[in-house]
Amino acid sequence: MFQFFRKKITDNSVPNFLNLAGDIHSHILPGIDDGSPDIATSLQLIKAMKDIGIHKAVATPHIIGDMYRNTPETINAALAILNDACIKNNLNFEISAAAEYMLDDHFFSLLRRKEKLLTINKNYILTEFSYTSAPDNIEEMLFEILTEGYKPILAHPERYFYYYKNYKIFHKLREIGFLLQVNLLSLTGYYGIAAVKVAKYLFENELVDFVGTDMHHWRHAETLLKKENIILLNKFIGEKKYNDFEALV
Ligand SMILES: [Fe+2]
Repeated sequence: MFQFFRKKITDNSVPNFLNLAGDIHSHILPGIDDGSPDIATSLQLIKAMKDIGIHKAVATPHIIGDMYRNTPETINAALAILNDACIKNNLNFEISAAAEYMLDDHFFSLLRRKEKLLTINKNYILTEFSYTSAPDNIEEMLFEILTEGYKPILAHPERYFYYYKNYKIFHKLREIGFLLQVNLLSLTGYYGIAAVKVAKYLFENELVDFVGTDMHHWRHAETLLKKENIILLNKFIGEKKYNDFEALV
């Protein structure tokens, strides 16, 4: 059914897959955020992931107070639907679900009410900052998160334009307790040259804890399927087995 979309990498002289333990950031659950709109698309995206060597993923739908008020219930319901569709389509792919929490008022209200957050493995949460303005109280936010026993992973630090003139912030974020997750697409130039520069900087300075596809739609899949991009990405990934989230402590 989905063969039409598949692009095989045929040159055997170069690695044809990404050397990852799994994906830690994706929007492949159907119909609950700005990612995959339906089951058919979700299955296409999963097939693309398998084609680039990813065989398990954490689905991380957005939770944003004024846009996507997803809950463990909405997310787990979408996960069950997708798991069922994978079985029916003989697609062997391991999916678990967490969320990508915007660090907004809604998030801190959940945290203060001690609502159970959706975590990766035990207590890791994937978080994101606003794209439009820098958070001005990073230490306080982090203190609250750590106090509740969570370990925050900051999604795609290379995509926040307000940090483009201040690379020191990336060292600081990590020193105070954020783990950093770079989008693989950033290295390919998908988001522009400034994001490439920061992503490279983060790798060169050993500030990268996780990598992610942040897969939303077919254009993302198509970019990651390109052989030249696989070669490029493996140069950065190297021998390190990123995203072994089951081994996280
Ligand atoms: Fe995302």
